[in-house]
Amino acid sequence: MKQDHVRICEVGLRDGLQMVKTILSAEQKLEWCRRMVAAGCTEIEVTSFVPPRIVPQFADSDEVARGALAIEGLHASALVPNLKGAQRAFDAGLQKVHYVLSASNEHNLKNVRRSTAESVEDFRRIVAARNESGLSRVKLGAGVATAFGCTIAGRVDETTVLGLVETLLDAGADAIAIADTVGYANPRQVRGLMRRVLELTGSTPVTCHFHDTRGLGLANVVAALESGVRSFDSSLGGLGGCPFAPNATGNINTEDTVFLLESEGMHTGIDIEALAAIRETVASWLPGEPFVGAIARAGLPKTFAPRAAAGAA
Ligand code: COA
Ligand code: ZN
Repeated sequence: MKQDHVRICEVGLRDGLQMVKTILSAEQKLEWCRRMVAAGCTEIEVTSFVPPRIVPQFADSDEVARGALAIEGLHASALVPNLKGAQRAFDAGLQKVHYVLSASNEHNLKNVRRSTAESVEDFRRIVAARNESGLSRVKLGAGVATAFGCTIAGRVDETTVLGLVETLLDAGADAIAIADTVGYANPRQVRGLMRRVLELTGSTPVTCHFHDTRGLGLANVVAALESGVRSFDSSLGGLGGCPFAPNATGNINTEDTVFLLESEGMHTGIDIEALAAIRETVASWLPGEPFVGAIARAGLPKTFAPRAAAGAA
């Protein structure tokens, strides 16, 4: 990927929807996907393969994944918390599967009911299951959640995160994500950790997943960008949260993130005006849910010159 190109993965359909009260239909979710692709956002985490009794919103994950695969131009992925979820994602035909474990053992126990060490072993089983099924072309990403701190355990050491990154790479991860699940990160911490993560990962792609819980989400994007990260997760309208982060707000907002990155001279390929229209539709489906964002509130400045409009390739 060129140094001035940034990949944005929309996670509103996964991280965003996992806590909202209204259950969207599979057709609504697929309309959201189709319109994101038309707006130039071709990477979408479309669902999560968790048991429906844990997150009823994702009872339709098979249908959504299959529907997403039929959308031209879309690179659909899904989150999986365990081997069973990964098997379901493989069966649906997804070519990108994101596994997640937490650097904080306490968070991992709450989130997936096993220790971080057991989750690492589960990842090894997922890699083996993929390879044994002849699906070696399916990309398996591995994410480290609570990488900047945890609402339950508090401090998370850099060495713990770096150790996990090394272990996951060694186990066969095709991509690494570093997640500030509970919105504890600050730019100084991001620069410190991401520089060291990128030294370990070499040519393996690295994504940063930030939440804006304490208002530092976009500052953290700039810090990660300066550290060399060229891939970010974000969610339309900043939807989302974490069940284990009290007063959590959502992910960094896709519209604002695109605005920031394009203003920094980066090329995202995403049309902010088109995002605004999608946001309006999705917000109308989810009454009472908080949709935040500065661009939605104030509009684009007259002086804004997106890279795409400037003819950047
Ligand atoms: N999809 C569907 N069903 C699943 C499943 C999955 N990914 N994982 C387990 N199950 C089923 C099992 O088959 C079993 O069914 P049975 O009772 O009919 O035999 C049942 O669920 C219990 O399985 P078990 O392995 O004991 O799971 P668990 O109850 O310990 O739960 C997780 C473990 C990982 C499935 C659960 O904690 C989870 O979904 N966590 C994710 C939470 C989340 O979404 N967090 C936010 C994003 S990181
Ligand atoms: Zn998140």
